[in-house]
Amino acid sequence: MNPTIDHDERMRVRALGFHTRRPGAHPKPPEDWRAERTADRPAVADRVHGLELGAPVAWVRPCVSRRPVALAGLVDGRHIVLKWPDEDLDRTGSREAEILDLLHAAPLAPATRLALPSPVPLDAPGRVRAYDAVHPAVSLRDLLGAGVLGPGHIDALATALAGLHAAPWPAEVFDDPDMRMTVPAPRTTLLTVEEYSRGVGAEFDVWIRAMQRLSDCFAELHRDWDARSLVHFDLRDDNVLYGSGGRVRIIDWEFAAVGDPRYDVGYLVAQFVVHALRSRPGTRPALPAEALGMADRFTAAYFTHTPGGRDAVRTVVRYAGLVLLQHAGARLELFGSLGRTGHLCLLLAEGLLRHPETLADRLSTGCAR
Ligand SMILES: Nc1ncnc2c1ncn2[C@@H]1O[C@H](COP(=O)(O)OP(=O)(O)O)[C@@H](O)[C@H]1O
Ligand SMILES: [Mg+2]
Repeated sequence: MNPTIDHDERMRVRALGFHTRRPGAHPKPPEDWRAERTADRPAVADRVHGLELGAPVAWVRPCVSRRPVALAGLVDGRHIVLKWPDEDLDRTGSREAEILDLLHAAPLAPATRLALPSPVPLDAPGRVRAYDAVHPAVSLRDLLGAGVLGPGHIDALATALAGLHAAPWPAEVFDDPDMRMTVPAPRTTLLTVEEYSRGVGAEFDVWIRAMQRLSDCFAELHRDWDARSLVHFDLRDDNVLYGSGGRVRIIDWEFAAVGDPRYDVGYLVAQFVVHALRSRPGTRPALPAEALGMADRFTAAYFTHTPGGRDAVRTVVRYAGLVLLQHAGARLELFGSLGRTGHLCLLLAEGLLRHPETLADRLSTGCAR
């Protein structure tokens, strides 16, 4: 990550280089607040031991996160995950907690409800939140990495996601500007000189050129965006966990908002593609067969629960292309270079955005072919 880029700029780069407001985003904190950040902060394990959790803590494991997150086993056999807000960003309470409260009050399909973390009431000061944890758990990333993601895993995730997207929401949710999200694609690909000079990574110009070639596709995505469901928006492979018996749990809800449900489906298709690209050598920008197989299984399962059709699948594929672009952008930001995977993502993304039918025609539409 480039430390000279402030939060707004970083988000602009992450959101495909341009100001895409995140749902519920609030202006960055005033400068004087930043001084608080220098105060000593206790280690995550010490924080957990300082909490009243209803039973003594048997063990604590810090989790990989930019904010303090820990998994705790209690002597009464329960497992809970504890999350503190990101002290740099979350100035105004926990957006994730609000979303999960909203979801728990909603009439969700049973498979979707079981796939959500349940809030655990906590008698603790500060803004720490507790949820029931899946333990032991493997992530979608683990399963993809080990090459053991099975049809049962894919179907369980597709069913839970379709139930989320089908949930009805009252007008207050749809009309709340903090709950609405536009397609995370730039509205304009023209950069100011300052933006160009502050762009991250040695291959920033390669990335920007690809983005600029795609401006007409971005305009179409904005035009066609159909915000009609609550969408997770961040279905990365480490935000999907599986517990015993392959039960799926979707975590990390801070970016959830009202949006186009097909974006989540495209996001997962892109996860399959990125994994397959990473795990096989070569520089040919062709869709790996194993990614195709997983994407087909996933769309088939998803569209048995929700109306599909050719257009819906084409839209899924365009969003998968968009997520591949984000992946390339994130690599540039994190590692300073696109690398082989980043270049392949850019090339495939261009193909999927311009000619979604090349993949869409090979995926299940949920309708008889
Ligand atoms: N309900 C849960 N059960 C088990 N582990 C969890 C759970 N929620 C979070 N974790 C662990 O904590 C990590 C970070 O949590 P997450 O909600 O994804 O926050 P973020 O990615 O925004 O830091 C996850 O990758 C996972 O390892
Ligand atoms: Mg996460």
